[in-house]
Amino acid sequence: MTEAKRIAATPLDRSVIPAVWSRYTDLVVDRGEGSWLITTDGERYLDYSSGIGVTNTGHAHPRVVAAIQAQAAKLLHGQQNIVYHEPGLRLHERLRHVLPGDDWQAFLANSGAEAVEAAVKLARAATGRPAIVAFRGGFHGRTAQAMALTTSRVTVRGDFEPLPGSVYHAPYPYCYRATGGPHDPAACTCDWEAQLETLFAQVVAPSRVAAFVVEPVLGEGGYVVPPRGFLPRLREIATRHGILLVVDEVQTGFGRTGQLFAVRHVDVAPDIMIVAKGIASGLPLGGIVARRDLIARWAPGAHGGTYGGNAVACAAANATLDVIESQGLVENARERGSQLLDGLAAVRPRFPRLGDLRGLGLMVGLEFVRADGDDPRAPDPDLARRVIAAALERHLIVLSAGSWGQVVRLIPPLVTTSREVDHAVAVLTESMEVAGA
Ligand SMILES: Cc1ncc(COP(=O)(O)O)c(C=O)c1O
Repeated sequence: MTEAKRIAATPLDRSVIPAVWSRYTDLVVDRGEGSWLITTDGERYLDYSSGIGVTNTGHAHPRVVAAIQAQAAKLLHGQQNIVYHEPGLRLHERLRHVLPGDDWQAFLANSGAEAVEAAVKLARAATGRPAIVAFRGGFHGRTAQAMALTTSRVTVRGDFEPLPGSVYHAPYPYCYRATGGPHDPAACTCDWEAQLETLFAQVVAPSRVAAFVVEPVLGEGGYVVPPRGFLPRLREIATRHGILLVVDEVQTGFGRTGQLFAVRHVDVAPDIMIVAKGIASGLPLGGIVARRDLIARWAPGAHGGTYGGNAVACAAANATLDVIESQGLVENARERGSQLLDGLAAVRPRFPRLGDLRGLGLMVGLEFVRADGDDPRAPDPDLARRVIAAALERHLIVLSAGSWGQVVRLIPPLVTTSREVDHAVAVLTESMEVAGA
């Protein structure tokens, strides 16, 4: 028997995958269709994880699949330093126009973390300044530089010190967990700005800071939607000190929050925007969209990579952008997001341990607390886990988030329908009941 035949005849063994991939399900999946995943046993699951915010156009959208197949039959790889190819040229051109104005240029890599690396390298090279200020609870990826920026959970970075230096962390306005008590973000009393000024006075002078790196909505940190004034004020502070504003739209981008990019909710122009995940419906692609004058300060050869702007990934991204536009997915994210949030808000009074419910578009978080001791906001990751497990038993896939794992996050594909949202609300309600929320 050949080795290939032996492997094909062996039953699938899940233990070949290392445990470092912490796991939400044991499902072995055969295929995906729109909002659904279908296992090798033929069981159907409503996928409100979207592969962690990637399959915004749904699984295996026919238009994206056709674009991938057509490109794969022509050219898989035409390396960026060596040749140009049509899908790459078209995608770079389109990405110049995803933000208002036309002074933008894109640089493509393969993942979110790689795009974060590119943003930090560009910010330092363009300003000649060393320091970066990131925000508490932020997640930016798993490479060394991205880990140094990340503070969503100690597990992500704790075993890997020393990390690259000259990275400082300022507080993010997390209104539910504010020191003075939970409050409505519309009347925010978080003292993030005063603490940022203290950081400037005590730790790093603003004249040494190359960039703020910030998520418009905290993702892994717990689906925290900041007050509307946060990003505009940060933009002002950045401009005053000559600091670049780098927004990490890896999770919030490509329609997820009910705008093509979350910065558009508050009309803030970043200097550099980091993108990945939803850009190519599942093929590995990431990048930055940056002010053209900044990118021009990168000397030829200062940055690059073998696969950045891969031809098949670019073809998938072009088709993804077509689908987002032609199917009105940004509007659908807004409408289905409101439906999801309203549906959960209607049952919320029944669940005293559902401490906070929040969201923007199809990025919705439910934060669970113990609600029994001295601290009414004591995080309850066990309860969140039980809700996720109960939902999975009912064939709904949802994930956790938050520094303690106390948040259940919903990341439906942007193609999800009104019926699917109603179904998910019913399943989550039942899951919270059985989990004891
Ligand atoms: C906001 C944000 N930035 C960066 C990353 C890293 O992206 P990747 O996993 O593609 O490296 C993630 C991944 O979850 C993310 O949510």
